[in-house]
Amino acid sequence: MAERAFICGHPIEHSRSPLIHTHWLREFRIDGVYERRDVPPEAFADFVGALADEGYVGGNVTIPHKEHAYSLVQRRDDAAEAIGAVNTLWFDDGVLFGGNTDAYGFAANLDATEPAWTESGTATVLGAGGAARAVVHALLTRGLREIRIVNRTLSRARALADRFPGRTSHHGWEALPELLSDTGLLVNTTSLGMGDPTAAVLDLGPLPKSAIVADIVYVPLQTPLLKEAAQRGLRTVDGLGMLLHQAVPGFERWFGIRPEVTSALRDAVIADLQEKQ
Ligand code: ATR
Repeated sequence: MAERAFICGHPIEHSRSPLIHTHWLREFRIDGVYERRDVPPEAFADFVGALADEGYVGGNVTIPHKEHAYSLVQRRDDAAEAIGAVNTLWFDDGVLFGGNTDAYGFAANLDATEPAWTESGTATVLGAGGAARAVVHALLTRGLREIRIVNRTLSRARALADRFPGRTSHHGWEALPELLSDTGLLVNTTSLGMGDPTAAVLDLGPLPKSAIVADIVYVPLQTPLLKEAAQRGLRTVDGLGMLLHQAVPGFERWFGIRPEVTSALRDAVIADLQEKQ
């Protein structure tokens, strides 16, 4: 019988995860399926409770269920514990495990595109939501010296810095010009520029010439921030790679083979994004 995995969210129709996992299932000729499951918040606990009975080997969890999944699993990996959210579920000896592969995906994408990124020293992170939590965890785990969290709502920046005390600090948007002047790695985790390619972007003038600018948004692929950075001759990293890399550990857990993020996979997802934005 085909092994079954899933992505569960609400809404879920725009998720590219089925495309990614189906690409790998075909590549390795695995008799498996990866299903899209639209589950509203009030039905999520029952959905998770029925996973084993439904024959699932595991699956992915996305917005708005990541925190709820964290509270429902029996065991968690270190990343899920630190981030407070679960995006990957699997069974081990009948026990439901929850992991978080977002931080891994973020770091693995930078490893693949800018291998020296961990020597950036000081990072500035725009945003303080769930995605920023995963990014800050990745930056800390990979040894960045200092992490500044900048957010429109200062209290959320403070809460995120408090969650990861030590090498983090919190700031309001107005501090950016000064913070950028010694930033080695700038990461955008906000929805700034999504859906509105003409929206005003930050003035990246103060950034050192050696800085790397990464966006975790991948629709559009070249966000206004990345466009502005490229025009200034800075190195840029787009958000699609994080999506592709975060899928790797889940696929390996469910189907037993560690897949690769290839340019063929990336091209397939880009073609799909262009077709149905
Ligand atoms: P996610 O889980 O994707 O990180 P989120 O938790 O809703 O989503 O967080 C969205 C982030 O984008 C927040 O940091 C938000 O800032 P606030 O905390 O001040 O709301 C940020 N954001 C969204 N729209 C923004 C805008 N127009 N300008 C600046 N920041 C914005």
